[in-house]
Amino acid sequence: MKEKLKLFSGTSNEPLARNVAGILHLPLGKSEIIQFDNSEVRVRVTEPVKDSVAVVIQTTSNPTNSSLMELFFFCDALKRGEAKRIVGVIPYFGYARQNIQHREGEAVSAHVIVRFLEAVGYDEIYVFDLHDEATGGIFSVPFKNLTALPLLASEVKKHLGKINRRDIAVVSADQGGVERGRIFGSAFFGTEDFPLVVAEKKRDLNTKHRSTALDLHGEVEGKTVIIVDDIVTSGGTLLDAVALCEKAGAKNIIAAIVHSDFSVKAPGRLQESPISAFFTTDTIRLARRQRFPKLREVSVAPLIAQEFQESIQ
Ligand code: R5P
Repeated sequence: MKEKLKLFSGTSNEPLARNVAGILHLPLGKSEIIQFDNSEVRVRVTEPVKDSVAVVIQTTSNPTNSSLMELFFFCDALKRGEAKRIVGVIPYFGYARQNIQHREGEAVSAHVIVRFLEAVGYDEIYVFDLHDEATGGIFSVPFKNLTALPLLASEVKKHLGKINRRDIAVVSADQGGVERGRIFGSAFFGTEDFPLVVAEKKRDLNTKHRSTALDLHGEVEGKTVIIVDDIVTSGGTLLDAVALCEKAGAKNIIAAIVHSDFSVKAPGRLQESPISAFFTTDTIRLARRQRFPKLREVSVAPLIAQEFQESIQ
């Protein structure tokens, strides 16, 4: 007999969770989440969960730390309610960029988050387009790194309409994103046989949000370029790649970025930039002030729902 599936949402991205629940024709589980004036968070699950498979959808974007606390406390509450299996869906996995000791003396924060998730009792974790896939290897519970890149590729394709593939270049925003560029391009062109252009950058590890564009490897002259990356925060990496492409003669520049983890000035910088369209997903809930005319958002809800469809049939 299949256990009952129950979906719960933290406060970080309730519209996405509602969307998933709608696709699965399930109600969102009842809970009460309170943030006290001293910034402490309290999570209470207010419906029976005994013997169920409980799925918690909670993205860990800004405010990252309280979003994480909700995620941890949800698991504890569900465990105390005797849920049989507890699954965490973390569409955007905060701290993923702190996955190694970039400099001596640093904490490896991503490692700490993984240990916490396991210690509180999550039985399984799903994320989207984790910054470094290798981080998945440090989970000792089942872990799945879903990707929204083919979804973005199909949206960009619709947007561009009929266009000769020789007039398009897929560009990885930095050397660390080559695999992402490959996944996007394979979905976009329908083949793995395409030249991937790479923008090379150097991050200044002593200054936050600062990097320098070094070089562009590949041909973009006269082409429509699609710059692919996992995350935009300040917009620095993307705009450096844009500048390199412009200098090399690109005629139209589009961005396809999974997670819009915007800093305050990023939306304005992107709107004012030479980018003609900025494609992103709803792994992070954007406030109205973070939306700008060039932004096109596509939902990952169907991809999440698909993962649980079988459990409710
Ligand atoms: C870094 O390697 C990531 O893939 C992104 O390129 C980077 O974190 C984006 O941050 P920002 O927009 O601040 O440059």
